[in-house]
Amino acid sequence: MSYVIVLDFGAQYNHLIARRVREARIFCEVLPGDTPAAEILAKKPDALILSGGPSSVFAADAPSMDAALLTQGIPVLGICYGMQLMTRLLGGHVEPATKREYGRTLMQRTEESPLFHGIPQSSTVWMSHGDVVLAVPKGFQVMATTATTPIAAMANPQRNLWAVQYHPEVHHTPEGQVMLRNFLYDIAHLTPDWDPKDRVQEGVRQIQAEVGTGRALVALSGGVDSAVAAALAHRALGDRLTAVLIDHGLMREGEIEEVLAAFPDLDLRVEYAEQQFLDALHGIRDPEAKRKIIGREFIRAFERARESIGSVAHLIQGTVYPDVIESGGGKGSTIKSHHNVGGMPDDADFSIVEPLRWFFKDEVRELGTALGLPDSIVWRQPFPGPGLAVRIVGEVTQEGLAMVRAADAIIREEVRRAGLEKEIWQAFAVLLDIRSVGVMGDGRTYGQPIVIRAVESQDGMTADWVRLSPDLLERMAARVIGEVPGVNRVVYDITSKPPGTIEWE
Ligand code: XMP
Repeated sequence: MSYVIVLDFGAQYNHLIARRVREARIFCEVLPGDTPAAEILAKKPDALILSGGPSSVFAADAPSMDAALLTQGIPVLGICYGMQLMTRLLGGHVEPATKREYGRTLMQRTEESPLFHGIPQSSTVWMSHGDVVLAVPKGFQVMATTATTPIAAMANPQRNLWAVQYHPEVHHTPEGQVMLRNFLYDIAHLTPDWDPKDRVQEGVRQIQAEVGTGRALVALSGGVDSAVAAALAHRALGDRLTAVLIDHGLMREGEIEEVLAAFPDLDLRVEYAEQQFLDALHGIRDPEAKRKIIGREFIRAFERARESIGSVAHLIQGTVYPDVIESGGGKGSTIKSHHNVGGMPDDADFSIVEPLRWFFKDEVRELGTALGLPDSIVWRQPFPGPGLAVRIVGEVTQEGLAMVRAADAIIREEVRRAGLEKEIWQAFAVLLDIRSVGVMGDGRTYGQPIVIRAVESQDGMTADWVRLSPDLLERMAARVIGEVPGVNRVVYDITSKPPGTIEWE
């Protein structure tokens, strides 16, 4: 089977490169950039890709690689930092940054090259770099240029070394995937022989290796990610797996029952802990504090569940790649601590297994289908681990939960009736802790507003608000105000991500 290794030099989105390689149906792994050459060569990769990274090659602690990898005849593609590193290691000239180049730019090809086969002479590429290559290493030729970057691509075909200054992996580079495919298929002569179904086997092997002969718990939340992680772990461990569903009282309407129905063969236990969570959240308004508390209480509840189950050392979690990035798992700054990553308390005495850590949501869905999960689970909307708590701005109370839960059920039902379920990434309600005046019947009301949030997204990392029809919005608003006591106003959130996030907290 064709096999590519991405050497990681710390770019926040470098797993996107791996994803693009997988989209070209080639098996791919990401390894630290400084992995010794012997270790890499022992894995017999058919090609290497050097990722981007935030460092300057001139920094004292700049990540580097074993230069021996550049002399093996293995096709190598350097991207951004990867190109600068290749240049430095092979004796070309890199100039320290005077200013960063960031954003879309037009690239002109200066040479015919198999790397750019099928790409127009002039094409848009996404740049994000400080240092710049000013002289290619001996034996290389310049293949492309932009107004500010004289060497935007270079190659030494004899030695099978290729490099681009831009980022082909982001969708702001429209021809990025064409270039990657050229590299994989035409330059490295790889056959697209990897099937996403193989991921079931890979996942099973990974879980079996990490858990060994022991037993594991899986945390089911009701969301797609944890459901797929549970199904995968069940396949790997059979009756050595016990699933625990913590009823933290922050679930959507009917959720516990639906999950129980979807996993008839799994040893699934529900740990009722609503009061524990409500007590812990009492008086807390800060979003990060809420998330941390929920993370902590989750673990506590699991520890209790574990006591009744016997000795279990491992906890399987459905953490997905966007969670890792947004919790600062890469080198970027923390945007939110997702409960299943950053909110994990230090004293948790489980060894955490995260089989979906490098997966994007659509890949998780693909895997779920390959595992035979029903559409009702695979296509359910993403739901955050901290549940409705992050959809109540302000303090979480029983009354607030009842309001946001009822409004959420109405919004989702209307989306389903309108046949929009698969098109919309998420549609839900947010309850705001403010009051406004209204009039209902003959009386003045002083109630809380519900925000309708509906977004389209590929992977949750960016999102656009959905242009729901005014009729549908009106139906939702009328029902929410009519059926949810305490709500007297409905507003529609028209913020995309960025600059907003999908959830309000
Ligand atoms: P944000 O609000 O960060 O959300 O734009 C991106 C996607 O992630 C979901 N989300 C979470 N999922 N644990 C999860 O498992 C969490 O703590 C969490 N917070 C947000 C959110 O619903 C959206 O789909």
